[in-house]
Amino acid sequence: MKKIYLGWLGSLLWLLSWSCLAAASPAPAQIVLTWSEEPATTQTISWKMDAGSGMVQYGEAAAKPAAVGAFRTVPAQAAVLATNLGEVKQFTATLRQLRPGVRYTYRVGDGVTWSAWRSFRTAPYQSSKVKFLVFGDSQSVTYQLWGNTLKKALQANPDAAFMVNMGDLVDVGQDYGQWKGWLEAGQGVIDSIPVVPVVGNHETYTPNRTYSRPQLFTSQLSLPRNGPAELRGQVYSLEYGDVHVAVLDSQMGEERAFVPYSLFLQQEWLKKDLAHSRKPWNIVLTHRPFYGNRKAKDSAALRNAFVPILQEAKVDVVFTAHEHVYARSVPLDGNGNGFPGTIHVATGRSGTKTYPDPVRQVWNENFYNPLDEPNYLTVEVGHTMLLVKAFKVSGALLDMWSLHKLRPAANQYSIF
Ligand SMILES: [Fe+2]
Repeated sequence: MKKIYLGWLGSLLWLLSWSCLAAASPAPAQIVLTWSEEPATTQTISWKMDAGSGMVQYGEAAAKPAAVGAFRTVPAQAAVLATNLGEVKQFTATLRQLRPGVRYTYRVGDGVTWSAWRSFRTAPYQSSKVKFLVFGDSQSVTYQLWGNTLKKALQANPDAAFMVNMGDLVDVGQDYGQWKGWLEAGQGVIDSIPVVPVVGNHETYTPNRTYSRPQLFTSQLSLPRNGPAELRGQVYSLEYGDVHVAVLDSQMGEERAFVPYSLFLQQEWLKKDLAHSRKPWNIVLTHRPFYGNRKAKDSAALRNAFVPILQEAKVDVVFTAHEHVYARSVPLDGNGNGFPGTIHVATGRSGTKTYPDPVRQVWNENFYNPLDEPNYLTVEVGHTMLLVKAFKVSGALLDMWSLHKLRPAANQYSIF
C-alpha cells in the first residue's frame, strides 16, 4: 500500500484508517477453534488482535488457571490479511501433544493483553459416542440471528463436541465486514467447540459481484491440508470417534477459472480418502445438493461425479445446504449388494435468508421449509448407531431418524 505522496487529505485518511483498525481489536477478538491436524491431540486457535506478537496460554482445566506453573505458553503465527476494509492482523496457533478426551483451559493474547479464559475438549482416543451440531446456510444481512441460533443450539446440547457449518457462512465471501459479523456473533460457541466448515458459493463472491477463490474462508479458518493440492483448505477430511467426515467443494462453476478440473480432482481424492477410512460411519458434506428441492442447478453433475463413489464406499449420509430447506431422502443409490443407499439431508438455514419455493420431492421422507425461524441438527454417532434430530431454534422437533449397523458391513435402516 502506498503511504507517501497522498497529500494532507490522504494522510488524514491513512491515519484514520489505522486508528480505526487499531480500535477494531486492541484486545483479542473473533476467537475461533478449528482442527488443522488430528482432533484427539491437537487444537488450532485463531484470533484477531492489533499486536506485534501473539501467544496461547493453556493447561488442563483440572488445574487452576492461577497455577501458572502447570500451564504452557506457545507462540502464534502472525498473518496480515488484505481485505476490502484494510489490513487485518490475525494470529493462529496449533496446540500439539494434548491428551485425548481432556478439557483444556486457554487464553490468547500478546503476553500483556489477554482474552478471558475459555476452554475446549480434545477428542477421545478410543471409540466413543459423539454428538455434533449441523447448521445450514448462515448467510445474513447482520449476524445476530445466526449468533442466537448457535447459542440456543449449544445451550440445548452442551455435550456437543463440534459444529458443522454447511457453507454460505456469509453472504459476500470476500467482504471482511461479513466475516467480522459472523465471527463476533459466534463468540461463546465457536471459541469453545471447533468449527468444521464447508465452502459455499457465497464464499466465492466479491463486493464487486465477481468470483474469487474463497480467500477469506481459507485464510481465517485453518483446516486439514489433506485435500487435493489445488483445493487445500477447501476440500478435506477428518475423523472423530467412530465417524469419518469428508468435505467437498461444490462451487465448480464459480471456481472454474481458478480450478478448472475441480470435480475430477475431488473424485480422485474422495475415492482414496474413503478407501482409507476404517470408521464404521462415513459422512460426506457438500454445500450444493446432489438431490435438490429447488432449481437443482449442478445437481446432475454432482450426482454423476460422486454417486458411484458413495456406492462403492457405502457412504451413510450426505449433508447438504444451499436451498435453505430441511429435507431428508429415503436411502438412494443402493448397490443391490447389501448396501441400502445413502440418506441425503438438506440441513435448512441458520441465518436470516429464506426461499419460498423449495418443493417436496418424491424421494423425500421428511420435508420442512423453515420460513418461520432458523433450525439446526444434532448428530449422535456411536459404534452401531447414528441418530439425527432436526430442531427449530425454539426447540420444536422437526425430524428424528436413525441408522443401525450390527456389523460394519450390515447397514440396516430404520425410522423412529
Ligand atoms: Fe449457496
